[in-house]
Amino acid sequence: MNTTQAYKPRQWNLSGLNGISDKTLEMHFKLYEGYVTETNRLTEHIAGMLKDGQVDQEEMPAYSELTRRLGFEYNGMVLHEYYFDNLARGGAGGPSKGSAFARAAAESFGSFEVWKTAFVSVGKMRGVGWAICFQDPHTGKLSNHWVTLHEIGNVAGYVPILVMDVWEHAFLLDYALAQRPKYIEAFLANTDWDALDRRLAAASAHAGR
Ligand SMILES: [Fe+2]
Repeated sequence: MNTTQAYKPRQWNLSGLNGISDKTLEMHFKLYEGYVTETNRLTEHIAGMLKDGQVDQEEMPAYSELTRRLGFEYNGMVLHEYYFDNLARGGAGGPSKGSAFARAAAESFGSFEVWKTAFVSVGKMRGVGWAICFQDPHTGKLSNHWVTLHEIGNVAGYVPILVMDVWEHAFLLDYALAQRPKYIEAFLANTDWDALDRRLAAASAHAGR
């Protein structure tokens, strides 16, 4: 792989969040960097195998395994970027009344409160993964999904609008295992609702709505 095409880890200044400690964030940034490194390494490895222009029979098992791992590493990288991008210091605790997200949530779920209950409940599901609010690019409707690990349950072509990490590493330094609901509360208190509106606006422009 040409090194100029390699992904570079991004950085966020999020210190001072409420209920998500700097220590957690530091550890989490390092973990994210690991996904960037692995994504680059896998891509390079696959490119190396393709150098002779073919994947021969002996290479097939290794080629298959490397390719299967792409979904895990790529999504591990990208979902963490969405996650850190939708956090900010001094969160308002909820969207402003006329915001695009509040409107979309009400249109899709009847009210913002029902959307919130639905999303929080996805976050409380047992297992490690993500709670993600996606937008259907064709209808503009929002729906909440559970993504196991990083790659199982993503909806192809749908746009991630709010991404919440509920792997244990996201909260275990700050909360006991059974306190996941408290972490979810903290996550929503630190959510950057304006970032969600920007994602919706970008998605609308892209879809020509
Ligand atoms: Fe994470």
